[in-house]
Amino acid sequence: SETPSALTILFGATGDLAKRKLYPSLYRLYRKGHLSSGFAVIGTARREWDNDIFREHVKKSVMESTAVQEQIDEFISHFYYLPHDVSDSDSYVALRTLANDLDNKYALGGNRLFYLAMAPEFFGTIADHLKEDGLTDTEGFGRLVIEKPFGHDLPSAQELNEQIRRSFDEKDIYRIDHYLGKEMVQNIEAIRFANALFEPLWNNRYISNIQITSSETLGVEERGGYYETSGALKDMVQNHMLQMVSLLAMEPPISLQDDDIRREKVRAFRSMRPLTLETVNDYFVRGQYGPGEDGMLGYREELNVNPESNTETYVAGKVMFDNFRWAGVPFYIRTGKRMPLKSTKIVVQFKDIPMNLYYRPDDQEMEPNLLVIHIQPEEGITLHLNAKRAGHQLQTTPVKLSYANSGVDVMNTPEAYEKLIHDAMRGDSTNFTHWDEVALSWSFVDVIAEAWRNEKAAFPNYPAGTKGPKASDELLEKDGFFWWPMN
Ligand code: BG6
Repeated sequence: SETPSALTILFGATGDLAKRKLYPSLYRLYRKGHLSSGFAVIGTARREWDNDIFREHVKKSVMESTAVQEQIDEFISHFYYLPHDVSDSDSYVALRTLANDLDNKYALGGNRLFYLAMAPEFFGTIADHLKEDGLTDTEGFGRLVIEKPFGHDLPSAQELNEQIRRSFDEKDIYRIDHYLGKEMVQNIEAIRFANALFEPLWNNRYISNIQITSSETLGVEERGGYYETSGALKDMVQNHMLQMVSLLAMEPPISLQDDDIRREKVRAFRSMRPLTLETVNDYFVRGQYGPGEDGMLGYREELNVNPESNTETYVAGKVMFDNFRWAGVPFYIRTGKRMPLKSTKIVVQFKDIPMNLYYRPDDQEMEPNLLVIHIQPEEGITLHLNAKRAGHQLQTTPVKLSYANSGVDVMNTPEAYEKLIHDAMRGDSTNFTHWDEVALSWSFVDVIAEAWRNEKAAFPNYPAGTKGPKASDELLEKDGFFWWPMN
C-alpha cells in the first residue's frame, strides 16, 4: 500500500487510550496490509516495563478487541518499550538511540510519528525535548499527533499551541477529534457534494433548521476529576459538536485536498454569530443529571465530584450563521450524559411546501421533509417524504427511504482511530483540526463558559436516564420548533 514506512513513538503507552483504541487500530491496519513491513512502534511511559511485558500488553489489548488473531506474534515483534521521564533529557537520548537503530533495522527512512496519548500538561515539554534532543532531526517526516483536550479555553490553547509550534510546523501537527474519523461524519461531505439532490436546497430558502444530537447513556464514570474541570461544553461542544456543525455549514471546497476543506471550515467558524455574556442564556441552556431509577447516582454523588458541583452534564444550544447561505436558520445542538440512549444523529428539517393540497387523517399535520444522517450506533441516511395514502385520493402518509451503511460489511467498517492513524501516516490532515478551527471554537465557547461560571445553576435539573432539562425543549419552542425524537 502507499503508506510510507514509519516509526511511531507513543507517549502514554501504558495508558487507557492506547490499550482500548490504538493497539487494536494498529493491528487492524496491519492485517489489512496498510502497514508495510517497515513499521515499528516504541512505547514509552513512566513504568519500568521491558519489550516482553509491553508486547504481552499489546497482544492482550488486541485479543480483547477482536476475534481474529492471525499474525499476532509477528505483529507484536515490531513493538519496543523504553521507560521514560518526560522532563529528563537522558530519557530522550536513549529514545533517540533506539529510534535510530530501528530506523536502520526496518528501513524506516527517518519517518516518525510522535503520538502523545497523555495529559496535555506535558505536550509542550515533550515537543521541546523532541527537537532539542534531536529526535525530529531525520531525513524523513516528523509528525506530532495529539489528543484532546487542546487547552481548556482560548488563552491556554494558545499557550499550548505556541509551545508545540516551537518544534513543529502547523502542517506537521495532527490534532485528533475522533468524531472526524467516524464513517458517517466523513459522509456529510459526500452526501452534500456528491449529490445533485441536496446542495441546491442546502440553504436558508429550503432548510428550516438543523438539529444535531449526541446522547450518551453512561454517566461520568471514573472521570469525575477531569470532567469537573470540563463539563459537557468543553468535553463535547467545543470539539465534536462544533466540528459537525462546521461540516454541515461550510461552503463547497474547491477540492477535497486537506487545505481546501479546512479553509472552508474555518470560514464557517468565522461566520458563526458570536455570543455575549448578555445573550448566552437566549442561545444556550445547561443541565446536570440527578439520581435516576434503579439506583443510578446523581452527578453530584459520583466519584471525585464536588457535592455542590455547578458542572453541566448536558448542553443544548442554538448556533446562528450570519452569512448569505444560512441567515435565519438555527443549528440546534444537544449533548448529554445519562440520557435514555446512546446515539448521534443529524436531522435536517426542510421548510414546508408553499401550499398544501393534501391532508392527513384526523387532522394530523403534514410532516416536513427530513434528511436524517445516522452517525452512530446505526450508520446510514433516512429521507422522510410524503406519499399518497393508498386508496385515498386526497390523503398523504409519511414514508421513509433508508440506506443503512452497516449493511456493507460491519467487520470492515474501520474504526475512527484506525482511519485517523492511517491518515496521519499518509500525511492527510483533512480529518484533523487546524489551529484556526480550534481557536475559533474556543472563542465561541469561552463566552458561554464565563457566563455559566458567573451564575450558579439550579442543578440537578434532569433525572439520570431521561432526555435532559425542560429548558432544552423551550429553547426550540420559542422559535416554533421542537426536537425530533432521539431514537
Ligand atoms: C470524548 C469525551 O471526547 O467523547 C467523552 O471526552 C465522550 O466524555 C466521548 O464519552 C464520546 O465519544 P463517542 O465516540 O462514544 O460518541
